[in-house]
Amino acid sequence: MKIKKIIECDIDNELTENIQELLTECFKDIYPNNRIYFKQVPHFRFLVFNEEKHLLAQVGLDYRVMNLNGKLIKVLGIIDLCVSREYRSKGIASLLLLEIDKYCVKKDIDFLLLFADNKTLYLNNGYKSVKNKCKWLKIDDRNQTILGIGYEERSDLMVKNISTNEWTEGDLDFLGYLY
Ligand SMILES: CC(C)(COP(=O)(O)OP(=O)(O)OC[C@H]1O[C@@H](n2cnc3c(N)ncnc32)[C@H](O)[C@@H]1OP(=O)(O)O)[C@@H](O)C(=O)NCCC(=O)NCCS
Repeated sequence: MKIKKIIECDIDNELTENIQELLTECFKDIYPNNRIYFKQVPHFRFLVFNEEKHLLAQVGLDYRVMNLNGKLIKVLGIIDLCVSREYRSKGIASLLLLEIDKYCVKKDIDFLLLFADNKTLYLNNGYKSVKNKCKWLKIDDRNQTILGIGYEERSDLMVKNISTNEWTEGDLDFLGYLY
């Protein structure tokens, strides 16, 4: 297995097709079938290939400043983590999360952040569940237009500390869309 980091704008047509196939397989009946992002493109991705160069798994990453209770924090957001069905339960998603941890070493990043309904994988990989009143830019993913501003408490939020900064409850302004 090989993990490759790729900047979003370097993704060519062939790789786009492979990522599209993986995303539509993993997020069946949910994922758009004409693009490889849901609401907005991530900044970069980690991709997992097997020996035959077949794409097995992927994760998107979004680097962003957010406002946590008036304090600006640097956040690396984890988006659309998925593993092809027949390769699941072999530790590949955990391996990708570990790769992200390694990437964060000595980087200007305070927290990793993601949304999850099922928290098991992330709790097992050092993430904690947090509750914050979130404010974000709402995007209509069908026609890809701005809908307005969302403002509500979210309990599907999970974070991992990268710096010495501590996460606090309260207001979290995404300063952008919610992935
Ligand atoms: C979630 C997912 C990425 C896990 O990949 P994986 O390579 O099987 O993960 P690992 O082998 O490292 O860990 C497996 C463990 O994760 C947990 N897990 C399983 N499905 C999960 C899910 N949807 N969300 C969170 N945790 C999950 C289980 O504890 C599982 O243990 P088990 O195999 O003994 O049941 C994969 O099931 C997947 O692609 N699902 C569809 C897409 C998805 O829901 N992505 C998550 C978005 S938040």
